[in-house]
Amino acid sequence: MARMINVSDNKTFALSNDFFSYVFCVTEEGILQHVYYGPPLKNPLEVEIHHLRTQREAASVFQGGQYFSLSDTPQEFPSFGTSDYRFPAVHGRNHDGNTVFSLLYKSYKVKDVKPLLKKLPASRGGDCETLIVTLSDPLHLLDVELYYTIYKHHGVLTRSAKFKNRGEQELQLQHAFSSSIDLPPAEYEVLHLHGTWAREFNEERIDVPKGRFVVDSARGTSSAAHNPFMAIMHKGTTEDLGHVYASTLMYSGNFALSVEKGEFEDVRMLAGINPFNFHWRLKPGKTFCTPEALHVFTDKGLGRMSHIWHNFIRKKITPERFANVPRPTYLNTWEAAYFDIDQDKVMDLAHQAKSVGVDMLVLDDGWFEGRRDDTSSLGDWRADRERFADGIPALAAKVKAEGLKFGIWFEPEMVNPKSQLFQDHPDWILHVPGRTPSLGRNQLTLDLSREEVVDYLFEQIDIILSCGDIDYVKWDMNRNMTEVGSAGLPKNRQREVSHRYMLGLYSLLKRLTCKHPNILFENCASGGNRFDLGMLNYMPQGWISDMSDPIGRLQIINGASYLYPTDTMAAYIGPSPNHQNGRVTSLQTRFLAGFFCAARGLSLNEADVVEHKDELFKYIEMARHSAEDMIGGRFHRLINNGNEVCWQLTTADEKTVYLLYFHILSAPNLPFRRAYMMGLDPKSEYLMVEDGTSYNGDALMSSGLALPYVTTGHVKDNIRYMDKGDFSSYLFIFKKEG
Ligand code: GLA
Repeated sequence: MARMINVSDNKTFALSNDFFSYVFCVTEEGILQHVYYGPPLKNPLEVEIHHLRTQREAASVFQGGQYFSLSDTPQEFPSFGTSDYRFPAVHGRNHDGNTVFSLLYKSYKVKDVKPLLKKLPASRGGDCETLIVTLSDPLHLLDVELYYTIYKHHGVLTRSAKFKNRGEQELQLQHAFSSSIDLPPAEYEVLHLHGTWAREFNEERIDVPKGRFVVDSARGTSSAAHNPFMAIMHKGTTEDLGHVYASTLMYSGNFALSVEKGEFEDVRMLAGINPFNFHWRLKPGKTFCTPEALHVFTDKGLGRMSHIWHNFIRKKITPERFANVPRPTYLNTWEAAYFDIDQDKVMDLAHQAKSVGVDMLVLDDGWFEGRRDDTSSLGDWRADRERFADGIPALAAKVKAEGLKFGIWFEPEMVNPKSQLFQDHPDWILHVPGRTPSLGRNQLTLDLSREEVVDYLFEQIDIILSCGDIDYVKWDMNRNMTEVGSAGLPKNRQREVSHRYMLGLYSLLKRLTCKHPNILFENCASGGNRFDLGMLNYMPQGWISDMSDPIGRLQIINGASYLYPTDTMAAYIGPSPNHQNGRVTSLQTRFLAGFFCAARGLSLNEADVVEHKDELFKYIEMARHSAEDMIGGRFHRLINNGNEVCWQLTTADEKTVYLLYFHILSAPNLPFRRAYMMGLDPKSEYLMVEDGTSYNGDALMSSGLALPYVTTGHVKDNIRYMDKGDFSSYLFIFKKEG
C-alpha cells in the first residue's frame, strides 16, 4: 500500500493524501525549509524548490551560508536571531543569557500511529501516519521534535512540538508555538471569528496586510473575543471556489494565531500558546509539549473547508461514545426560573416538559447550598436543603420516574468569596500577593494548577454524578481570569500558571468523563467564551451563546459553522420578548433558528409552556423525528447577506435535505430570491415534502429553488409566502427519490 509519508535520500519529506501534499526539505545548512502545501501532487518528492538564493542588499546572511538569508527562506520551525526577522515559532533564553537559538536538522522517524500528547487532549489516530523530525541546537542542547500526522480519509494535518532540554543547565521558553507554515507570496485574505458575550462568532474578512495580524487570548479562556480559528485564503475565495489554509488549536486557554506578511511578501502562519505573558522553565532533562495545532487545506473554498473540519471533529475529536447518538431534547430551568427554583418547581417544569414530549429536564444554576443569586455559594457543591430538601439524587430519581432524563449544572472552576470553600481554603484561588483579587460575576477562579484543588473538585462532582441518575452535565465557566498567580508555585514559575491551569482542567475532565462515560457533557462558558476543540474533546456539545434570541443567534451559528459542525451545538426556544435583546419573535422562528443544532429544547416557564402547548408539542415532535438527521449531516451556508440567511443540511445518508430560510426585516417590493442548493446528486429527483413537487437535483443547484416571498402587499395563490412582517422563517424538507 502506498505510504502517505515518504522521505527521499537527500531528506526531502513529503506528506500526501487525497486532500493535500505537504513537502519540506533540509538545506545544506541544516535548516528545515518549507517547500509546498497545496493540492495533492502525483510526485510530491519531486516538486521544485522554488525558493531562490540570491544576493539581496541589506539582508543578513545565515551563519556561514552564501546568499542564504533566513529572512526570506520558508521554514518549518523558525527561531530568532540568526537572520530571520519575522515572528519566530520558538524563542527563549539560553544558559548564556541571550535569546539566540539555531535549530538544525538532526533525525527523523515515521510511525503508523499517532502518539499521545502528554497531559493534553489530542485528536485520535487511526488510518494515519506520523512523521517526527528532530531539530537540535547543538550549542544549547535544546531538541525540538516536530510531530506531523496525516490521515488517509481527512484533509487535516495535525502538528505539535516537543521541547527537550538535553543540557545541564536550565533553559527558558518564551515562544513555544505548535506550528509554523510559510506560504509563498500571493494576494491573501484572512477570515476570523470575533465577538463578545452573547455576540460570539462574528466573521470578519480582510486582506492580509503587510506586517502581522494576530488573534489571541490572554484571558485564561480561548474566549468569545476571538475564537481560535483563522483561515487564510486566496483573495476572492467563495464557499465553493478558492484555496484556503485554515488553522485551529486543540487548546482552551491563552492561544495565538497569526499571519505575517514579510518584506518579500512571504506569508507566515503561526499557531500555539500565546507567547504574551508565557514563560516556561525547562530544567535539564525535562520536556515541554505544545498543544496540537490543526490545519486544513482545500482548493474548493470555504464550504469544503468546513466539511473537512466537521468530518474530522466528529470522527477524531468529540467523544466516540456520543459521535452517532441523537441528542435528547431538554427543558433547561435557567430562562424559565433563574434562581427562583426549588424541587417543587423542578417537578412542575418536569411535568410540563413531559406534556410537550421533551426528553430531559436540566436543572441549571441555583440548586446548591445558599445559592439564591450570583453572589454566593459557588464551590459548595451540596444541595441546598431549604429548597431541595430531598437532595439531588432523590430529585433526579423522581424526575426519571416521570419518564424523563435528568441533567444538572455545575460551575466547578469557580468559587464565591461568600462560600464555605473559600473560607476553608482562601489560597486555592488564582491570586497574587498583596493585591485584592478582581471579581467577575462576584466570583473568583480556583487555582486548577494545584493538584489538591483538582482532587477536591473531582471528589465533589463525582459524589453527585455517582448517584446513577444523572444523564447530563452542563459545565459552565463564567469569568475571565485576573491576577493569574498561584500560591502553589515558586516566584520564578508564576508565568506558567495559565498553562498549568489548563493541564489541571484537562486532567479533571479526563477523570470525570472516563469515570462517567455515559453522561452527556455540555460545554458552556457564559455561552461561547470557551468553545474550542480542547473542550470538545471531552464534551460532545456546547451552549455556543447566551444569546437565545433567534435572530441574534443566526450569525452566531453561521460564524461557528466555519469550524464546528452543528452536531456540536445546542440551542433552545427561549422566552419572547427575549431576555438578552428584548426582541419579540414567533415560536416558529425561535425553533427553526436552532433546528440544525443537534441538541435542541426549550427554556420557558410553566405559563409559557401551557400557553403554547400544542405548538411546542409539534416542534418537539419535529425535533425528535429529525434528531438522527442532525448528526453527521453536511451543512451548507447558502445566503448570508445581512437581512437573509439560508442554510442547507443534507443528512449523512443523503436521503433527506433540509433548507432553512430566514428573512429578518420585512420591506415592500423585494426581489424574488433563489437558493442555489449545493452538493445534491445532479441525476436524482428530490421530492418537496410540503406539496409533493419533484425537482431535479441539477436544477435545484444550477437554476435554484424559488424562496418564499416576503410581502406587504397583494397575496397571490401561485407564490409561496413567508409569514408577514419581520423575523420570519421557513423550512423546506426534500426527500431524495430512488
Ligand atoms: C451562564 C450560562 C447560562 C446559565 C447561567 C447560570 O451565564 O451561560 O446558560 O447557565 O450561567 O448562572
